Amino acid sequence: MSKVLVISGHTDPKDSVVNNEILERLSVALPEVEIVRLADLYTHKPIDVAREQQRLVEADIVVFQFPLFWFSIPSLLQRWIEEVWLHGFSHGSTGTALKGKKLILSFTVGAPEEVYINANGNAFDKLMFAQMFAAGFTGMEFAGMVHTCSVSYAMRNEPGQAEVFKAKADDHVQRLTALIATL
Ligand SMILES: Cc1cc2nc3c(=O)[nH]c(=O)nc-3n(C[C@H](O)[C@H](O)[C@H](O)COP(=O)(O)O)c2cc1C
Repeated sequence: MSKVLVISGHTDPKDSVVNNEILERLSVALPEVEIVRLADLYTHKPIDVAREQQRLVEADIVVFQFPLFWFSIPSLLQRWIEEVWLHGFSHGSTGTALKGKKLILSFTVGAPEEVYINANGNAFDKLMFAQMFAAGFTGMEFAGMVHTCSVSYAMRNEPGQAEVFKAKADDHVQRLTALIATL
């Protein structure tokens, strides 16, 4: 049985609807999953690098769960990568700790899907290029993306949206767990 580690990069979970719903459902769908809410542990606090590296060592599949912020990953997740994926751990001649592990990008997006996937191609492949490249650089296998669009914070208070967001979180978790099951 593969060990799944979910790194939740939402910088402001108290203001999250969809990512919180996804994390709750994931913990039910995958009872053995380890979910790390970076904001709860490390907002304005130093990152426990040894602890985070140990979590990675023990994982087979790493899922980055995050809202798309400014067409990229949130700053807290970027900081976690910068401080934890160190030379000698994840890369460099002796840095092989991540080799062979799988990386999934699982994210929510405010704008409708057609803003990103249209006749010009799939913009997520370009926006997430750095994360895919980083996976390859460390010897990880990039195992795919799962995204859910049209879930902007700006729509939250519209009538009926709470139910729509829950249904979207359900669907997201089904697609994510189906992908994990193939690995
Ligand atoms: C600071 C900030 C930046 C955002 N940037 C984008 C963006 O670049 N593209 C986009 O489609 N949505 C963007 N959004 C919308 C979020 O992706 C959306 O609100 C989030 O995925 C919903 O998940 P949540 O309820 O867990 O916060 C942004 C939201 C915030 C607060």
